Amino acid sequence: METMPNNNGKSFYVTTPIFYVNDAPHIGHAYTEVASDVLARWHRQRGENSFLLTGTDEHGEKILRTAAANKTTPQQWADKLVEEAWLPLLETIDIKNQDFIRTTEPRHEKAVQKFLQHLYDTGFIYRGSYEGNYCVGCEEYKTEADLIEGEGAFSGQAVCAIHSKPVEKLQETNYFFKLSEFEDKLLAHYEANAKFIQPESARNEVVSFVRRGLEDLSISRSKEKFDWGIDIPWDDSHITYVWFDALLNYITAIGYGEDTDEARAKFASLWPASVQVVGKDILRFHAVIWPAMLMAAGLEPANQIFGHGWLLVGGEKMSKSKLTGIAPSQITDTFGSDAFRYYFMKAIAFGQDGSFSWEDLSARYQAELANGFGNLASRAIAMIHKYFDSVLPAGTDFTEADLQVQNIAATAVKNANSAIDDVAIQDAISSIWTLVDELNNYITVQEPWVLAKDEANRARLGTVLNTTAEGLRILAVLLNPITPKATAKLWAALGSGLGELDAQPLNEAAAWGQLKPGNVLNVLEPLFPRIETDTESK
Ligand code: MSP
Repeated sequence: METMPNNNGKSFYVTTPIFYVNDAPHIGHAYTEVASDVLARWHRQRGENSFLLTGTDEHGEKILRTAAANKTTPQQWADKLVEEAWLPLLETIDIKNQDFIRTTEPRHEKAVQKFLQHLYDTGFIYRGSYEGNYCVGCEEYKTEADLIEGEGAFSGQAVCAIHSKPVEKLQETNYFFKLSEFEDKLLAHYEANAKFIQPESARNEVVSFVRRGLEDLSISRSKEKFDWGIDIPWDDSHITYVWFDALLNYITAIGYGEDTDEARAKFASLWPASVQVVGKDILRFHAVIWPAMLMAAGLEPANQIFGHGWLLVGGEKMSKSKLTGIAPSQITDTFGSDAFRYYFMKAIAFGQDGSFSWEDLSARYQAELANGFGNLASRAIAMIHKYFDSVLPAGTDFTEADLQVQNIAATAVKNANSAIDDVAIQDAISSIWTLVDELNNYITVQEPWVLAKDEANRARLGTVLNTTAEGLRILAVLLNPITPKATAKLWAALGSGLGELDAQPLNEAAAWGQLKPGNVLNVLEPLFPRIETDTESK
């Protein structure tokens, strides 16, 4: 897959969690992907060397059991799910990733073994024994505080608070990572890097968790129990604990452990990651265990771990195992991938939980995308076709109203940019929408259709339509990371002569007058077509 040229020497490396291949994706998974993709595209549009990594987590007991239940081998099961479900998801929601890592690939397995060997040789891994309550759904030992009273078939038993299923008592002799040694170092790191864990609520939760004290972490499982994982390099009767294996994907994908100059250069240019996007259920793995692993290996932690909220259905985390999962294609088949991306990024403040509803999606599609943005573009472009024979008129003698559009555009670019720096995607969209609203208001007040009635107003009519077209150009650049299909259509219609939309520098988007008068505009394909559907029946 391609990487953009490194225009200003700045790298932006963003990662998604790697997804378990035990089941097909639902909109909760797609949510993580879209947010990461929007960030990656935004930084790329700024001219940075932006790299989005995603992939699949294929080892562990959960996958092994699913494969067995489907009467196949775990490798065949993983291959099938990757081909039939996880790679197609990227198309469904229009993800532009630079790499896709699978934890069963040799590049990953070899590098994981190198990492383990290094930690073993430097004394961070030792042999010991452990007894605890294991949740296969989470692939994690649970403390008493993580368990709740079961209901229904499991009443009277302690169940995992996330999966509502009983935990299993495990007693094992295996290898341990000295996580407890990192308590102070982690707390010092959180203290010195106030933005390392975001949002604030996530940071507070992690800090108080670490303050309560850390135990060493079991990082291997005996092959007597099951053997679907990466061999411990110095003891082939054990395999690597799936989370220890999985977390390393973020560095094995970018050349860690590979002995070539090219791999070393790639690693040096991308690590530490700029932001690692994770759901809040897997925050502790990423904000506690993962940085400790890196510190043990002498590597820097990522710049930021961002823990987003859950999509809720009926007040509970949407999940396939609880049968509340909605497939992303159920939404995109009707509304398209742009609407999917826009809706989840706008309707839910990134970092908080949010409830999905068909009614809300449908209402926002109509009001914000179709009426707000789509109609604005189609009306303005249609008027240039009609009144100026498709040729972009010049803008001259700017009035207060014209200058206000220019000012609002400049502020929108500035505010949206800083919202993205804060990973506040919803705020970035709101800032962009100030320009959508302003342009709609501008057309209403300027009444170009009235100006068109009198030849004496020809120059003024030209200025109004030129101003609107410039506004649309800026919207195309700003919205390209969020609704790339619609903006591609808009760009084609503007016939700007400015080259590829992806190559337009976002930071300079508001510099006025980039469209050249005399350019010929093309017909605009509908951006957000009317949807003939009964959303009630969904
Ligand atoms: N394989 C691990 C991650 C390993 S990363 C080194 C895993 N996989 S997962 O497939 O179960 O979940 C992947 C991501 O999807 C997590 O960030 C999780 O929070 C997210 N979501 C799963 N259900 C979700 C919702 N209902 N809402 C929002 N995100 C959700 O965990």
